[in-house]
Amino acid sequence: MENATDDIKHKLDIVSYISSFIPLNKTGRNFKTLCPFHQEKTPSFIVSSDRQIWHCFGSCQEGGDIFKFLMKWENLTFSEALKELAEKAGVKLTKVNFEDKVWKKKERLIAINNLAAEFFEFILQKSRFGTKALKYLRNRSIETKIIKKFQLGYAPQSWDSLYKFLLKKKHNEGELLESGLLVRGNRGFSYDRFRGRLIFPIKDARGNIIGFSGRTLEKSAKDAKYINTPETPLYHKRETLFGIDLAKESVKKENNIYLVEGEFDMISSYQAGITNIAAIKGSAVTREQLTYLKRYTDQITLAMDSDQAGEESMKKAIIEAEDLEFNIGVVTIDYAKDPDEAIRSDLVKFKKLIKNPIPFYDFIIDVAQKKNPIADAYGKKQFAEEVSEFIGKIKNPIVLSHYVKKVASVLDVTENSVEALIRNLRRKRKQRFSVITQKKSASEMMREVVIQKYLLSRIFQSSSPFQLAEDIFKTFTLDDFSVPSYQKICQLFLNYKKKSRSFHLDDFSPRLSPELLSTFDELYLFASTEIEIKNEKIEKLVYEAKRYSLKRKISQLLSSDKSDDETVKTDLKSISKELTDVEKKIVAL
Ligand code: CTP
Ligand code: MN
Repeated sequence: MENATDDIKHKLDIVSYISSFIPLNKTGRNFKTLCPFHQEKTPSFIVSSDRQIWHCFGSCQEGGDIFKFLMKWENLTFSEALKELAEKAGVKLTKVNFEDKVWKKKERLIAINNLAAEFFEFILQKSRFGTKALKYLRNRSIETKIIKKFQLGYAPQSWDSLYKFLLKKKHNEGELLESGLLVRGNRGFSYDRFRGRLIFPIKDARGNIIGFSGRTLEKSAKDAKYINTPETPLYHKRETLFGIDLAKESVKKENNIYLVEGEFDMISSYQAGITNIAAIKGSAVTREQLTYLKRYTDQITLAMDSDQAGEESMKKAIIEAEDLEFNIGVVTIDYAKDPDEAIRSDLVKFKKLIKNPIPFYDFIIDVAQKKNPIADAYGKKQFAEEVSEFIGKIKNPIVLSHYVKKVASVLDVTENSVEALIRNLRRKRKQRFSVITQKKSASEMMREVVIQKYLLSRIFQSSSPFQLAEDIFKTFTLDDFSVPSYQKICQLFLNYKKKSRSFHLDDFSPRLSPELLSTFDELYLFASTEIEIKNEKIEKLVYEAKRYSLKRKISQLLSSDKSDDETVKTDLKSISKELTDVEKKIVAL
């Protein structure tokens, strides 16, 4: 197996592979870009061609090889990524002789879901039990072609027909419960979750069936109109976007996604030729969904019940979307309940409507206006505070000024007063924020560690590592390291240096244990990031690192039980003198 992964790594270059997903810019020996796995303003995602690795020095602090990248990008397990990359590299995978429990489980659950979908589809299309549901779909104008495309089905009104079917296919009760298709009753008997319902398979972006949702056919149902697969190892509601498997290509092409609330809204739109669309299934848009969408598009158009889009939870999601720098538009449908009904009542009108979404801020102003009577000063205050929360987020000064003006004119107050309110809100937010960032920088990484890391990084990236190492280690020595893994790497480096004439990455890196290798990889890339100490003189950093070490030694000696010993006293004296010298040099530099 190791041969296969190595083989793949030789055949696929990580730099060109990652640049097929995101643009990479050369920086010295490495490449950098904005990290695709978290939101950031300055690039801290570094890719190395020499080492065939990547690392994020921003808030996610993750890194790895080409497999790890694909795993993160597509949310795959190792063996899923292995399969995909093997195919791409033209490497044949023989026996998969290692255990990947997570993937095995997922694979089994997907197999169960596939069987269940086939079962539901069969019942709908080929059995008399499906007649009513087919008629229902026809009434809702869903074409046969679309029914097949979405693999719609019907779960018969029975407690155990799917259960029995899946048992026959050699699946056991435990895993069927885990798939969410069975429910365990309180008397210990398991039974089918979906009964007498129209079934929508829910798929991930790659088209794997990860769960189901089922709609009742009864007009006045006693139980829920829709029921869904619960959270399972496969199905995570917050990450799911119904229809994304069919939509993603056209989302990319159009650089816009329409988000609707329900399955039928998605399906009807898709049938009507609006293919860059997905359904969030009722609740608000989540950060997980937004982060996923960001790789396909910068533009989101919400097409949902207008009251829903104004809901508190939706607003929060939209603030997040702002953070991710999405451009958000809102479509409000005034002539029907939802997109599905709007399409059935007037498709032309609907298409025209969704071509002209209202910019999100205008929408917010509209909603707030409807909610707050702005007749008196109090009403105006309410309105302004509600709206400023959003307007205050706008970064572009022209856009900001436009909306300040709009709010001022709606309220019939001066623009100055609106600006003052926004300033107040921003100040408050900043105070809250600075508390958080202070906490972070104290715990995150101490300057001492950063300097050690940077110095090593500079050595490894240097065109003459041995020379630079000699310069640095004249002052800063092996026992000055505070991080044991850095010290070990350095020790191995110095051993290597004794034996070799020049530094070769491919000679050196095999000498490191797997744990050290991952630290080394991180070190190797570190100097390519945007770090402040890059602007400081390297000699000064060396002395500073030394100073930290000397201070540490002094405090260790002082706190030891033997601090009265004569030898300790002389040690203290000489270290203190050294410290004074180092401090003088720092000031002089
Ligand atoms: N939903 C759900 N569970 C419920 C109710 C709703 O998961 N008990 C989700 C469904 O995905 C549904 C969406 O929320 O499509 C929106 O709900 P609603 O507006 O009530 O239904 P519609 O989408 O209009 O459904 P339909 O057109 O089938 O009546
Ligand atoms: Mn509907």
